[in-house]
Amino acid sequence: MNNTLNDQSEKNDCTSVSGRQDMVFAFHVSFFAMCRLSSLPWTTLEMELQNEESWEIILDILKQTCLHSRCRKTPPSVKYRRLFLSELIKRHEATTTEPLDELYDAFGEVLGAEEEPVCYKSYLLPSGDAVSVSESVAVISQGTTGLVTWEAALYLAEWALENPQVFTGRVVLELGSGAGLTGAAVCRSSGPRRYVFSDYHPSVLQRLRSNARLNGLAVADSDDDDDDDGGVGTAASVEELDWAAVSEERLRELGAETVIASDVVYDPDVIGCLVGLLSRILRFTVCTDVYISSTVRNPTPMAPSRASSKALESDTRSSKVPSSQSSPTTGLPP
Ligand SMILES: C[S@@+](CC[C@H](N)C(=O)[O-])C[C@H]1O[C@@H](n2cnc3c(N)ncnc32)[C@H](O)[C@@H]1O
Repeated sequence: MNNTLNDQSEKNDCTSVSGRQDMVFAFHVSFFAMCRLSSLPWTTLEMELQNEESWEIILDILKQTCLHSRCRKTPPSVKYRRLFLSELIKRHEATTTEPLDELYDAFGEVLGAEEEPVCYKSYLLPSGDAVSVSESVAVISQGTTGLVTWEAALYLAEWALENPQVFTGRVVLELGSGAGLTGAAVCRSSGPRRYVFSDYHPSVLQRLRSNARLNGLAVADSDDDDDDDGGVGTAASVEELDWAAVSEERLRELGAETVIASDVVYDPDVIGCLVGLLSRILRFTVCTDVYISSTVRNPTPMAPSRASSKALESDTRSSKVPSSQSSPTTGLPP
C-alpha cells in the first residue's frame, strides 16, 4: 500500500517523494494524519519551487490541505494547521516576493481560530476512502490515555489491511480500543461479521461511539433498544469491558472468535490482569486467535509482558503479536 495507512506512521517519512503530483499527495496524506511536520517533503518542495511557478505549487498544496473539503469536516488541530502554514509561507517567501492571497487568508483564518481540546486525524485506506478519528490534543486527558491513537494502533490497522482474511466473516473483539482507529479500519476494509469495540473508561466509550459513527458504522450498544443506529456495513457495538471485572458469562455472550488489542501492555501493572483475561477468553469461549500489537519503548516494561505471554502461549490455542519498535506518535513536532 503506497501512501495509505502504511505510510503514515513514524517508521515512514515522505521526505524522499519525487514528482510534483506525488509530492502534493504526500502533503495531503501527511497533513490529514497530522504526521510530524519535519517528515513532510519540504526538500522536494524546495526543489520544485526552483523550477516552476511558485504560486501554482503552493496553491496546489493549499487546496489539498487547509482548503480541502476534508479540512472543514475533520480538521487537524489548530496548532498543527498554524505550524504547517507557517512552514509553507516560509518556503513561498524564500522563492518569490509575490504575495499569494489564498495562503495569507488561510493563515489569517487559522490565527483567528480558537484552539479546541479535540482534533481529527484521517488516514487513507487503499480504496482511497479515509478513516477519521476525533482525538484529544493532549496525550493524556480526562485521566486516560485512551483519547488519542497510539503508534501500535496504526501498526495493527496496517497489518489488518494486509491480512483481511484474518477478520473476514468473523466476530472480532477489540480490548482497550481507545479512540477506535484500528476497529474503524478493520470494519471498513476486512468485512468482519461483527466488531466489538471495548474499553472501561466512560469518556473513551463515548468517544468510541462517536468515532464509530463518524466512520459510518452501524453502532449498537448495550444501552440501545434498537439494534443499530442506521449506519452501513459491518455491525459494530461499543461495550464497557473491564479486563479485571468482566465475567466469563459476559465473555461467552460476546461470542468473539478473534481478539485484538494495541498498545495495552505499556504499564507493567496491567499486564497480569490482561494476560489473565486472555487466558480465560481462550479457555472458556469460542475464541481461537488473539493478536496484540505493542510498541517497544524500553525493555523494562516489556520484560514481565514477555514472561506473561510465554505463560499464555503454553496455556492457549493461539496468540500472535505484531510488534512495532518505534515511539508513540504525537503528530506534532517535538
Ligand atoms: C494506551 S491506550 C491504547 C488505546 C488504543 N488501543 C490505541 O492503541 O490507540 C490503552 C487503552 O486501554 C484501556 N484500558 C486500560 N486498562 C483497562 C482495563 N483494565 N480494562 C479495559 N480497558 C483498559 C484504556 O482505557 C485505554 O483506552
